[in-house]
Amino acid sequence: MVQIIEAKYLLTPDRILKDMQVAFQERIVEIGKDLRKKYPDATFHRYEEHALLPGFCNPHLHLEFSANEAMLSYGDFLIWLQSVIRHRERLIPKCDRSCLENALKTIVRSGTTTIGAISSYGEDLASCVQTPLNVAYFTEIIGSNPATADVMYADFIERYYQARKYESERFKSCVAIHSPYSVHRILAQKALDIARKHETLVSVHFMESRAEREWIDSDSGEFRKFFEEFLGQKRAANRALEFLELFEGLHTLYVHAIWAKEEELQKMKNGAIIHCPVSNRLLGNGVLDLDRLKRMDLPYTIATDGLSSNYSLNIYEELRAALFLHPHPNAVTFAKELVTRATTSAKDVLGFDSGKIEPGFFADLQIVKVPEDLMVEEEIYLHLILHTHMPQTLYLKGVEYE
Ligand code: BEZ
Ligand code: FE2
Repeated sequence: MVQIIEAKYLLTPDRILKDMQVAFQERIVEIGKDLRKKYPDATFHRYEEHALLPGFCNPHLHLEFSANEAMLSYGDFLIWLQSVIRHRERLIPKCDRSCLENALKTIVRSGTTTIGAISSYGEDLASCVQTPLNVAYFTEIIGSNPATADVMYADFIERYYQARKYESERFKSCVAIHSPYSVHRILAQKALDIARKHETLVSVHFMESRAEREWIDSDSGEFRKFFEEFLGQKRAANRALEFLELFEGLHTLYVHAIWAKEEELQKMKNGAIIHCPVSNRLLGNGVLDLDRLKRMDLPYTIATDGLSSNYSLNIYEELRAALFLHPHPNAVTFAKELVTRATTSAKDVLGFDSGKIEPGFFADLQIVKVPEDLMVEEEIYLHLILHTHMPQTLYLKGVEYE
């Protein structure tokens, strides 16, 4: 059954079309005017004061940590990391099925239709398989100590193949390498061999903190004491450039990269930078230099990270944070850039047929109230970010989300 929506504004997302109609079933069929003549049996909705735009993509979050509100310490990356290690055995079981489902509900209700979920334990698999969202499910490997490498690899393989059973056009089984400081080179190499063999997406936290920078560069800084006491290590598991070479030819999501050097960024052209402004703020990691990424023609997009380093999985909150944490660009043009990246990254970063209003793409759509007194059309993106808490209506694969 065909449905038609007409909205005052249609954001494709980068073009603004007035009073246009979109005809769709599971996928978008056609964009035009007077479509009811062509599809006389279609159901029809007109939204007088609204914008119709694609659902958002939130390409980096950790659902298994969704029970955290105030258990983890903020303010300093190393203090936070130690609090994760101290509390994770209490925190993970606290996030039961209903906690995971609540997290997913917030994600969808806030207009997100595609996610990249980093899974450390596999506890979130059933929820990610059942949700109507598009999910890139990244099974994560961790372990810098060679003595535990075999056990860590076996555990990773078990979880990865479990997820792979559920591959579909809306669920992709992918590989995550935790970081250069926490994954031994051989372990990273073996996990990436799997990614290569199955042509999966890859995700990696890279140069999130000053402590990581100093440890990876010269086995020094705040990580030194931590690694000596926690793991009996005096040397970093990887050096930056050698580590990045492991990712050559793989479509990779480089998460954070605040402390990355230009020569390292040059090696990241095989993917995109994932920017989590709230997490970076709370853990004291600084502000990503977006101008540098633009100069280098490196794509980036916005993500919330998990509730382990955020107060909300609502992507509108993250977009507002990005707007105010990067105060120099023109707010009107920057808002358009943010909305465009946060939608189109479903296709351009995660490879789903979603995030653009084009025939053949999934009807993953949000309908958002626009302030009645909007005078200048081009300012619509800014006002969507400023005024939206949640969209009025959502469609996932053409089905209205209740
Ligand atoms: C490890 O498993 O080697 C590790 C985990 C967290 C932080 C650092 C290292
Ligand atoms: Fe993360």
